[in-house]
Amino acid sequence: MNATTIEEIERVTVIGTGLMGHGIAQTFSVKGYEVNLLSRSKNSLQKAVKEIEWSINKFVEKGGINRDEAEAALSRITPTTSYREAATDVDLVLESVSENIKLKRQVFSKIDKIAPSHAIIATNTSTLSVTEMGKATRRPNKTAGMHWFIPPQLTRLIEVIKGDGTSNETITTIMDVSKKLGKTPILCKKDARGFIVSRILVAVFNEAFWTFSRGEASMEEIDASIKYVGGFPMGWFELVDYVGVDIEYDVSKILHEAHGERYLPRLELTQPLIAANKLGRKTGTGFYDWTKGKPFIASDLAGRYDVERSWAVAVNEAAWMVQEDVAEPESIDLGMKLGTGWASGPCEYADNKGLDWILEKLKTVYSRYPIGLYKPSPLLKDYVKKGWTGKKAGKGFHKYT
Ligand SMILES: NC(=O)c1ccc[n+]([C@@H]2O[C@H](COP(=O)([O-])OP(=O)(O)OC[C@H]3O[C@@H](n4cnc5c(N)ncnc54)[C@H](O)[C@@H]3O)[C@@H](O)[C@H]2O)c1
Repeated sequence: MNATTIEEIERVTVIGTGLMGHGIAQTFSVKGYEVNLLSRSKNSLQKAVKEIEWSINKFVEKGGINRDEAEAALSRITPTTSYREAATDVDLVLESVSENIKLKRQVFSKIDKIAPSHAIIATNTSTLSVTEMGKATRRPNKTAGMHWFIPPQLTRLIEVIKGDGTSNETITTIMDVSKKLGKTPILCKKDARGFIVSRILVAVFNEAFWTFSRGEASMEEIDASIKYVGGFPMGWFELVDYVGVDIEYDVSKILHEAHGERYLPRLELTQPLIAANKLGRKTGTGFYDWTKGKPFIASDLAGRYDVERSWAVAVNEAAWMVQEDVAEPESIDLGMKLGTGWASGPCEYADNKGLDWILEKLKTVYSRYPIGLYKPSPLLKDYVKKGWTGKKAGKGFHKYT
């Protein structure tokens, strides 16, 4: 049987009611889908429904939807603790349980046994293998990654990930559903660890960590430069705190295992914080103190770190992704702009600045610090050799007429 098409998707099941799950369920229900919300316990379901009510009310207060629409959205959500109830009559299942491959494989397998054969099973994993989850089912062609960004009710981006067994029809349906939800989907063509956005982010985090640990600039100097010179919404250390020091630690280890030398992490910086339960914003302290709100980063410290180095490693990683056919430059740029609020994507930044300029920057830093992070990618060197240096040449990552 073919995978479900967008027109056939009416009932959706969301599994997991944590930080992400309840916001995802809310987004589907507000857009008119019938939603089964599945959790392990009645308590967590009650908590999730309260959180959804609170969030939907915020939308009403701000004029995003009216009271009747809010009531209708709430009435479309069916909370349950029973897999059978949640998955017997459903067209799309999205799991958002804890980030653990064994658990996610179990969930995929359980759903596969209950859900109708046309149903698509998707995962909100940030780092794990979509292919492995697909293999836990008898329908790998109808499994995919659908990676949302926090908070799911507001952030426009969704990364859609093709596992090794995922069919093109399934990808089309997930892309279409994402659009129907008012989101902008970007396609990650391969099940490569870190997908698109996390891969670029961890590269710039590593650059900040290495720079700091070599004593070239302080944490505040790096962050002030990133914010006030680079125009990024947050400094890199601030952003690690915001995401969670433990999450960054896990993801950076996974990326190192998957992509090798280029992602050599500086775990010495994050490990002690994790041991002391200083996980960032969520525990009140991380690299910064968050107990009184967002950390204050003095603007007069800006300029003591070369922001172009962050751009250079971001561009280099984007080039690796294009070379490995993981993503198109358009998707990478959109991902960084919508997922993390960057003013420019790395590919368009490189095209404007000149790929030759970026390459020289990488070569200079690499000659001083010969670690994989700074080693220019073959694709970048190849483009420059061909004269594809960006806007000025009419072609770089993008084409210009
Ligand atoms: N937090 C983020 O910023 C973010 C962003 C994008 C994607 N994700 C991904 O979303 C998923 C969920 O993350 P989260 O931040 O919402 O986590 P969370 O810890 O807030 O929630 C995890 C949920 O999984 C449920 N769960 C745990 N074990 C279970 C089991 N055995 N059976 C059924 N449910 C179980 C928990 O009850 C909880 O509701 C993860 O895969 C994560 O990587 C997280």
